[in-house]
Amino acid sequence: MAASLTTADLAHLRRALELAELGRGRVSPNPLVGAVVVRDGEVIGEGYHAELGELHAERAALKDCAERGEDPRGATMYVTLEPCAHTGRQPPCVEAILEAGIGRVVIGSDDPSEKASGRGPRMLRDGGVEVELAAGEEATAARLLNQPFRKHARTGQPLVTLKMAMTLDGRTTIPEGDSPWISGPESRDLVHRWRAESDAIAVGIGTVLADDPLLTARRPARSSFAPQSGSNLDRGAEGRQPLRVVFDRQARLPLDSQLLRTLDASPVLVVVSQAADQGRLAALRDAGAEILLAEEIDGALTDLSRRSLTSLFLEGGRTLASAFLASGAIDEARTFIAPVILGQIASRAGGGAGGTTPEEASATAGGGGSPAPTGPARQVALSREVEEIGNDVLITARFKEW
Ligand SMILES: NC(=O)c1ccc[n+]([C@@H]2O[C@H](COP(=O)([O-])OP(=O)(O)OC[C@H]3O[C@@H](n4cnc5c(N)ncnc54)[C@H](OP(=O)(O)O)[C@@H]3O)[C@@H](O)[C@H]2O)c1
Repeated sequence: MAASLTTADLAHLRRALELAELGRGRVSPNPLVGAVVVRDGEVIGEGYHAELGELHAERAALKDCAERGEDPRGATMYVTLEPCAHTGRQPPCVEAILEAGIGRVVIGSDDPSEKASGRGPRMLRDGGVEVELAAGEEATAARLLNQPFRKHARTGQPLVTLKMAMTLDGRTTIPEGDSPWISGPESRDLVHRWRAESDAIAVGIGTVLADDPLLTARRPARSSFAPQSGSNLDRGAEGRQPLRVVFDRQARLPLDSQLLRTLDASPVLVVVSQAADQGRLAALRDAGAEILLAEEIDGALTDLSRRSLTSLFLEGGRTLASAFLASGAIDEARTFIAPVILGQIASRAGGGAGGTTPEEASATAGGGGSPAPTGPARQVALSREVEEIGNDVLITARFKEW
């Protein structure tokens, strides 16, 4: 099927992928989708899913055709994801494609959700439309574009991306009195973009006790930072903020923490265990936190997914990251390596576990005496990319593909 795609077909599909990117951070739990309509080699319409609840890419591209005064009858539509056949927040795209008289549809990737799974392409074929599914690089790019959506659809859990920053000597915590940062400003700007693109951010209570973080997505101050065109980064301060999640089995989150003082920016969910003191739980609830009871990471992830959260950005620290790793929950890791050597073990004050090697972690973990995870947890990445971000090196490693 895909063998019949020409170089021009693939170029149009790549353009549709570019368009799809423009919805990043705005459409979850829906997928990112882009569409291009081409007649006689000429692009006559383009569209993408821009905001949750608004037009799907196919309808947006057809609307663009109409606005340009172009007739899509007999044209080819390139779309990054199989068109939907069900009514959700929007009517089915298949109907719009059939009504518009599109003659051929080239699809970047399948939609693994139960209500889709090939129904749209079948209905198009039944309606006399030629349908082709891409293979190769463009198909891979179309699948990678929607990893959170795909994992959520296939497993009922959010995609987990672990972010870490470390020094050349493998340290992830800073000694008291030093600069609070390991990575450079450009890397930190990127982290804010990733936060803005995530449905939820998670840390362990050790990180909250040590750093008292805000965990909001904030707009970078430096003008040198160039967000991708259409990026939602500019909306950092006023746009959609991720849910902030603290894994805190004993409900130790301080009532005067920055997290609880900034609930108007975004809600805070505290994942606790049965062991948590009822009085502490009541105090956290009174302070405005939401409480989730989950003994295991797996259960917490399933619960987050039920809330339509498709992506979780795990910001550490090392103890929680190791626990996620041990439960096989990490899909992707993004690690910054800064050209810095710290060369000492002491961590900053604040009560968090400061261990920067597994030995140190188990010696200091938890601040509340929780054991560090044990046993082999080694995972080898399926793929990895290396790039320079300011003075840092960023390694992105993908462990699973959905
Ligand atoms: N370099 C980086 O990228 C980076 C990122 C984040 C943090 N840090 C640094 O890391 C240090 C904190 O490290 P940390 O390891 O203590 O922090 P952490 O991993 O954020 O928190 C650890 C705590 O999480 C709680 N927890 C809840 N559920 C858990 C589970 N299922 N498994 C394991 N733990 C669970 C445990 O306390 P309970 O048993 O009481 O629940 C545990 O002690 C800070 O100095 C911070 O600055 C560095």
